[in-house]
Amino acid sequence: MNILVTGGLGYIGSHTCVALLEAGYNVIAADNLSNSKVENINKIKQITGQEILFYQIDVVNEDSVNRIFNNHKIDGIIHFAGLKAVGESVDIPLDYYYNNIVSTMVLARACKRYGVKRFVFSSSATVYGDNRVPFIENMELLPTTNPYGETKAMCERILSDIAKVPSDFSIALLRYFNPVGAHESGLIGEAPKGIPNNLMPYVTQVAKGKLEKLRIFGNDYPTIDGTGVRDYIHVLDLAEGHVAALENLKEGAHVYNLGTGQGTSVLEIVKAFEEANSIKIPYQIVERRHGDIAECYADVSKAERELGWKAKRDLVEMCRDAWKFEKNYKELVES
Ligand code: NAD
Ligand code: UD1
Repeated sequence: MNILVTGGLGYIGSHTCVALLEAGYNVIAADNLSNSKVENINKIKQITGQEILFYQIDVVNEDSVNRIFNNHKIDGIIHFAGLKAVGESVDIPLDYYYNNIVSTMVLARACKRYGVKRFVFSSSATVYGDNRVPFIENMELLPTTNPYGETKAMCERILSDIAKVPSDFSIALLRYFNPVGAHESGLIGEAPKGIPNNLMPYVTQVAKGKLEKLRIFGNDYPTIDGTGVRDYIHVLDLAEGHVAALENLKEGAHVYNLGTGQGTSVLEIVKAFEEANSIKIPYQIVERRHGDIAECYADVSKAERELGWKAKRDLVEMCRDAWKFEKNYKELVES
């Protein structure tokens, strides 16, 4: 089966390409390289020992997308391509709405035109807003605090409406919790440009000495130790969740949480990282970050029941693999 992976050279996309190749699929990756490097192709080949086809295209461009479908019989799409920085989305909302929503519509139109029945979409736990934990798929969604989150909620609605029209279109809307870690080879991982916004890449850069200390955003939340609680999931577990979703698609649109179901606080992450890697992480408690919620973790029973998938890797593996990648990684600007 030929699977088109948009955003296939990005953080989650590259790990999913590996998981797909290892599961026996042919992979065609499409990426405009706005937030990734073409070298990832070779790294994916090196890890799997298999070939992967690559198109450097922008998936908002319908002609470019159609070219892929004219060249290959596509059996399914996993759509990762998108802009994902919450803070940036507040500054350049039009770019976020245009890129994330138009790309989804262009791909859905291609599915109709070329008779592709399988579609897997990257959504986010951010669509739950400040609901009560654990977040469960049938909860009413609350408004998110930023355009990025709104693009995910809107794409979910668009795809759900498309799937309501009688057809045998099958869509999985996957709500990711907090992906961290890297492939155990240390070859692919998360390489944010500039100063990281997310916790784990910030911690690994402190460990490397690139940043002086971690700033912990608030210790007065109603949580186990006052710091924010999240559901961290190893990116390889997440990647395998996509293979499971693809293989268990059902007619219509179906939402699945991809997390571990475990909440972990910022201080617990710091401790786990220090223990896993024997490196001290200096930190300072600062003000809460605007837009943060106290707790976010998943009810994961639906994915386990319907997809037969469950995250396997623990916090030690997440911290160890994140650090291995950071140690190996040469700055984008250096390479
Ligand atoms: P990423 O930035 O590493 O990967 C996205 C890839 O898409 C990049 O390689 C980028 O170059 C490419 N891209 C962006 N717009 C494109 C376009 N118009 N045409 C072609 N390529 C384009 O991000 P990621 O962390 O791998 O996230 C993948 C998806 O998962 C995104 O849709 C993101 O919103 C979603 N998501 C990520 C997280 C997370 O914490 N990383 C959480 C929830 C949801
Ligand atoms: C962020 C996004 C969310 C997105 C998710 C996954 C915001 C407001 N939310 O969520 O929409 O779906 O990433 O990409 O950006 N922390 C620190 N110091 C840091 C960084 C983070 O204390 O330098 C804390 C945060 O306050 C939070 C936890 O660590 O409690 C995790 O933060 P982060 O990795 O940014 O993820 P989310 O806040 O879950």
